Amino acid sequence: MSARVNLTLNINERDYAVSVEPRHTLADVIRDQCGLTGTHLGCEHGVCGSCTILLDGEPVRACLIFAVQCDGQEIRTVEGLSEGNELHPLQASFRDNHALQCGYCTPGFLMLAAGILERNPSISDEDLRDVLSSNICRCTGYANIVKAVRAAVAEMGRR
Ligand code: FES
Ligand code: FES
Repeated sequence: MSARVNLTLNINERDYAVSVEPRHTLADVIRDQCGLTGTHLGCEHGVCGSCTILLDGEPVRACLIFAVQCDGQEIRTVEGLSEGNELHPLQASFRDNHALQCGYCTPGFLMLAAGILERNPSISDEDLRDVLSSNICRCTGYANIVKAVRAAVAEMGRR
């Protein structure tokens, strides 16, 4: 059995003291030790994007990163998007534009979109489609996901 490593993960502005084996992925530790099960696991090898979180503001696939690499870094998960009972504009827009069916892919799409829009709120349609194509949805056909992100951009611009 591997030696365990003690580290502190800062997730959604809260510190979580965890003890991990070097082989443990960030996704597994977020879910199993921190209890934040909004980060979903699909393929577990970097293809589907359902585990997308923000690491120091960058969208990354949490199944491809080891938790030991994230000591002291700022992690954001879907649980950190809303403010109390107020949904983030992306969450409200996904709901209003029917951008989810089973919802399994949704946390990953939300975090991917949040990270991209924070860096580039005026992203072009073409670039937005390109970015969103990196995540997989088996239900929606993607059109409403693109529509929802576009509507959220407009809403965020009004705030
Ligand atoms: S579970 Fe991480 S990319 Fe699919
Ligand atoms: S809503 Fe079901 S996989 Fe995307």
